[in-house]
Amino acid sequence: MPTCKPLLLNAFNMNCVGHINHGLWAHPRDRSIDYHSLDYWTGLARTLERGGFDGLFLADILGVYDVYQEGIELTLAESIQLPVNDPLLLVPAMAQVTEHLGFGVTVNLSYETPYSFARRFSTLDHLTRGRIGWNIVTGYLDSAARAMGLDGQLEHDRRYERAEEFMAVVYALWEGSWEDSAVLRDKAGRRFADGAKVHEIDHHGEFYRLRGYHLSEPSRQRTPVLYQAGSSGRGQAFAARHAECVFISLQDRAKARELVRSLRRQAVEAGRRADDLKIFLGATAIVADSDAEARERLAEYQRYANPEAGLAHFAASTGIDFSRFGLDEPIRRGNRNAIQSAVDNLTAAERAVTPRALLEQHALGGRYTPLVGSGATVADELARWVEEVDIDGFNLARTVVPECFDAFVDLVVPELRERGLVKRDYPLDAQGRPQSLRQRLFGAGDRLPQRHPAAAYRRSSAGASPSCSAAAAAPETL
Ligand SMILES: Cc1cc2nc3c(=O)[nH]c(=O)nc-3n(C[C@H](O)[C@H](O)[C@H](O)COP(=O)(O)O)c2cc1C
Repeated sequence: MPTCKPLLLNAFNMNCVGHINHGLWAHPRDRSIDYHSLDYWTGLARTLERGGFDGLFLADILGVYDVYQEGIELTLAESIQLPVNDPLLLVPAMAQVTEHLGFGVTVNLSYETPYSFARRFSTLDHLTRGRIGWNIVTGYLDSAARAMGLDGQLEHDRRYERAEEFMAVVYALWEGSWEDSAVLRDKAGRRFADGAKVHEIDHHGEFYRLRGYHLSEPSRQRTPVLYQAGSSGRGQAFAARHAECVFISLQDRAKARELVRSLRRQAVEAGRRADDLKIFLGATAIVADSDAEARERLAEYQRYANPEAGLAHFAASTGIDFSRFGLDEPIRRGNRNAIQSAVDNLTAAERAVTPRALLEQHALGGRYTPLVGSGATVADELARWVEEVDIDGFNLARTVVPECFDAFVDLVVPELRERGLVKRDYPLDAQGRPQSLRQRLFGAGDRLPQRHPAAAYRRSSAGASPSCSAAAAAPETL
């Protein structure tokens, strides 16, 4: 049944060769080996803006996928997210060739200091004129912890506790250090900023200590649009409190609907609104002029895909070395210190999952069940997901680039526009400027709403004590 709710579109990519659908880098028309050239990224950004996409979501990883066969041989042979370059450095170039496209960029907070991290995102919010988002991740790879000089990662739930405190500190920097009226730019009076309105943040917590002023003046959005992707119990609680966009990957409609309900309910319990969360489903689409041609294209792509490489990726996500199981042996064990929701979905399935079943699921090299068909067929499928599962949109993974994005923009987007599901033009804000990412997603201004926990860190010009309001929200951390 068609839906009237407009849907949100993100392209899903990563600054590397093999991202989700592994093996396709070897396809003769694929250009992902050019990931280290700026043209590759500016070309993608232009295509997405032509197609009315809301954003480009960039995954990232620190560490290597060394769980499968206890090494990185296959990881290197198939370039499974290795090599991987820094995603943030791509943003200014793409922002320069676009006006509206948003950028949701993954940064693992576990290896960041809040002070310098907050400045990087403020800088990008300035340079993009309010189009930056941050995908908050805490990491799941022991290889990253070792590379950072640690013996191992913090335990799963402790990582989320540290993340809670990290958020308190960056909210204080972004929202509380500079008042809106602090910047004067008064050349005649020789006062760039008003010292009474720039405040030192003083934080003594369990994981972080900081005394200092935020280095950047307030940017359009102040706090970047916040994305989150963990779906464990602890991950959902974190998302319900902090996230504005949640990325889910469940491909089963009933399970996805349950997760969406649970996330929205918890957001309400946290004092927010159910639609304060925009929920994006990870999806792969294979599109051509007709359903039959799309099926042929799928078969052609599958000849280059590498299901075993997909398994090596999934092994790292779950911390389970699938190569240790017989092809038909049920997989029932996982250490639950990697992506806990991925382990639980796998090991708690009613029918035991085997490596053979996983290889079949990864026929296109990745875990997403591809939507295959003409533009109309795929548009109908996407609309059905939004209607039935109450999601808000999609993170569209790549297959063969750039043709997969071109095909989506040329064949699916016109169908979605015809159905009123995707805008024909990007709206402007009240001053006639391109909207900020947050304004486009939520239609309620550039800044976080008052009911979001970050708002407790704001200082009013009336002189309300910021540390008091911050302390009310997070007594032990400020
Ligand atoms: C769909 C999806 C995408 C994710 N993308 C990334 C990523 O790009 N980089 C990363 O370090 N972690 C990524 N993660 C990991 C989570 O964001 C999270 O930090 C962690 O694994 C805990 O998830 P859990 O709450 O489900 O256990 C992703 C997780 C999911 C479910």
